[in-house]
Amino acid sequence: MIECTILIFGATGDLSQRKLIPALYSMYKQSRNQIKFIFVGAAKDDISIDQLFDLAKENIEDFDQTIYEELKKISYYHRVDFNELNDFKKLAYKIYEYEKKYNLKPNRLIYLAAPADFFCRITQNLSESNIISKLSNDNIWQRVVYEKPFGWDLNSAKSINECIEKYISENQIYRIDHYLTKALVNSITLFRFSNIVFEAVWSSDYIDNIQIIFSETASIEKRGEFYDRYGALKDVVQNHMLQILSLIAMEKPVTLDQKSITESKSEVLKNISIEDGILGQYEGYLQEENVKKDSKTETYVALKCFVDMPRWSNVPFYLKTGKCLYKKSTEIHIVFKKVSKKLFLLPGFYDSNILSIRISPDSGFSFRLNALKGSTDKILPMTMDLCYRCLFGFDLPRSYQVLISEIMKGDKGISVSWPEIKYSWKFIEQVNNLQLPMYRYKQGSYGPEKVLKFSEKYNFNWLL
Ligand code: BG6
Repeated sequence: MIECTILIFGATGDLSQRKLIPALYSMYKQSRNQIKFIFVGAAKDDISIDQLFDLAKENIEDFDQTIYEELKKISYYHRVDFNELNDFKKLAYKIYEYEKKYNLKPNRLIYLAAPADFFCRITQNLSESNIISKLSNDNIWQRVVYEKPFGWDLNSAKSINECIEKYISENQIYRIDHYLTKALVNSITLFRFSNIVFEAVWSSDYIDNIQIIFSETASIEKRGEFYDRYGALKDVVQNHMLQILSLIAMEKPVTLDQKSITESKSEVLKNISIEDGILGQYEGYLQEENVKKDSKTETYVALKCFVDMPRWSNVPFYLKTGKCLYKKSTEIHIVFKKVSKKLFLLPGFYDSNILSIRISPDSGFSFRLNALKGSTDKILPMTMDLCYRCLFGFDLPRSYQVLISEIMKGDKGISVSWPEIKYSWKFIEQVNNLQLPMYRYKQGSYGPEKVLKFSEKYNFNWLL
């Protein structure tokens, strides 16, 4: 049985309330017979464990009062100033007490759901208070989870990385990206390399363009302070979208182990370059709480990039993301080249084959083919669809629940390596250096109107 103490720094923040505490609840509900854990929350606020749970309650799905109360009984909250070593020492003492009370090994999963500004200081204080130590013991594990974005630019990421490496070993560091836990993202590698039909055409010989589209209906909600400092480029492009891109574009790894996959992904990220793009900001953004009244932060991004590797020569990768758009979905579209129409005598409309990978909200694949329309002699594009929910009839576990249980098992598949982080930040620097134009767009729309001009300019169609 896996056993550990789960410590969350930043327990009163948005991520903990919306995702982490609900994930602990689901994990407790589904796996309490296989996983023995207690939860300790820490943040600067002065609140009780009841108040902390009340904040998260509305985000819990399949709510069951008994389970909720049981989980609360093995949960604790402590006020901690992240800069105060003394607070960490007091916390360390409490953790020893809890571990004794529940007869738990000192296995510790420490989740930093706090701004990256605190990553170095918290890690140092964790080490100096002996909550974590560099371990070389196979029986005991202590792992620290760093939420994305890891830093706010290349330099900050470098100095955070140098700092944390002084206190813990690489195998204890989890620079996580919750998109890597989504079932479909996770299976891109298996899909690509287990279906010979696709791998054979996975190159510039057959592919016209690739689109990665990450649309959200939600606004920045209560995250004004964070979001206004980061914007869409650093919030989702630097991490989720580039991770997806690297899985799609990577060369075949030597084997499908984590180390080889990471090396192949890094090679892609090292070779991405930006050609053009536009930025957008939704109308009403400047009135959001904790946003500067003259803010130039982008809530929308559309980019044209290239991956400078022989396989992808001249294949544009289009990335598009935004808040307050007309729908929530994350999709990848592989648009194949068109066949020559001269060959065909039949009337109709021939179009590119498109392989679409739907990551959320529902998971699935679809493949667009040209086929005869019924018993007519007309050819039309038609879609074959593989919908996970329809096929398997159940919901896949929520990402953060998967994430926490994978870290408990010591699976580094959901962790991003330092080279990947470094190259991703370098790419963001390239984009910033272009000083892309910014346009306003209406909430609930497709984004700035200029995005259509953008596709006209490069002669492709956005697949929404
Ligand atoms: C987070 C971003 O990492 O991912 C959010 O900070 C975004 O701005 C979220 O809304 C999207 O994740 P999901 O799992 O809801 O698609």
